[in-house]
Amino acid sequence: MSIRTIKDMDPRGKRVLVRVDFNVPLKDGRIMDDTRMLAALPTLKYLLDKGASLVIMSHLGRPKGRVDPEFSLSLLKDHLAEITRAKVIMAPDVIGEKVVALARGLKPGEILLLENTRFYRGETDNSVEFCSELAELGDMYINDAFGAAHRAHASTEGIAKMLPSAAGLLMEKECRIFDEILENPPTPFVAIIGGAKVSSKIAVLESLRADVFVIAGGMAYTFLKTQGCQIGNSLVEIEYVDTARSFLASARERNAEVLLPLDHVVGSDFSTQATPEYVDSVDVPEGKIAMDIGPKTISAISRLIADARTVIWNGPMGVFEFEAFARGTLKVAQILAECKGTTIVGGGDSVAAVNKFKLADSIDHVSTGGGASLEYLEGKALPGVSVLKE
Ligand code: 3PG
Repeated sequence: MSIRTIKDMDPRGKRVLVRVDFNVPLKDGRIMDDTRMLAALPTLKYLLDKGASLVIMSHLGRPKGRVDPEFSLSLLKDHLAEITRAKVIMAPDVIGEKVVALARGLKPGEILLLENTRFYRGETDNSVEFCSELAELGDMYINDAFGAAHRAHASTEGIAKMLPSAAGLLMEKECRIFDEILENPPTPFVAIIGGAKVSSKIAVLESLRADVFVIAGGMAYTFLKTQGCQIGNSLVEIEYVDTARSFLASARERNAEVLLPLDHVVGSDFSTQATPEYVDSVDVPEGKIAMDIGPKTISAISRLIADARTVIWNGPMGVFEFEAFARGTLKVAQILAECKGTTIVGGGDSVAAVNKFKLADSIDHVSTGGGASLEYLEGKALPGVSVLKE
């Protein structure tokens, strides 16, 4: 069943309750990266242009049901006014009489920004009372918070059952792109899956029907172990060795190609100070920790991607937070940026990497979802999405 979208609604002259994911990184109260705010802009503009007034709700951080000024949405108010060029009123709370009065007083084209929904336990508990209080604030509900769609919270799920509801433009786009990856990816389809742990990525590997899998990052060493390779002191999840082995067997059965690291950049200890050493072998020497892929692996990835029509990348190739071990991740980001096929980057760390290397504009789709994109790729139903199909 397909998702109801904003285009199925008539927001003219209505008060629209919009859930966005403004969970942006802050430092000393200042926004460090406004990507998520900009990503919601098309939906906000669309509604404002149609003459709606908006009541915007979001979480910020994890304040655990208590008011915490460090996570106040008021820190975002001026920037929201700047990017929307609309009048933005900051609500003193999330719910309550004063907030209802402010919402009712809104004129078309104006925005009321609610306080952090997670200042109330009712949000994460998805309580019916809290949902009803939120529902008082609008005539209809639009969910554009893809990044929070894996949470069954009041503002992402419960409220959708109480008001006419639909997906915003960002939510619709993210779902469309991930659905295509899962159901009908143009082939050859290459999945580059990295990151530290097999345990957090195995479900993604198992759900994707890729023609080629590139497995790198810390998780690759559990896979290399199954092949009888020496892995030194590299990360390994012994309890996942069998799972890794059976994934490789099933990929082989489907004629899918799997590339594991062919060479490595290693260090003696896991720290920023570690001296990088190149290992021109699939085996990692005793006592060494593999922290990045080497040039042979990078060239092999480049060759595999050359003819790909779809490439998804989730998870870094090494410890890219350490300058000396960032090259593999940087190179893969560059290869993706130059790829002619459709390129998608999902998941917190790989998105952070393309942003760090300033390559996001050259990727077809950089997902705003961390946990949400991972769960989507695992083939799980996201509560915030499912409720918009019911
Ligand atoms: C995210 O940052 O991935 C989303 O905003 C969800 O945040 P959460 O993990 O605190 O629910």
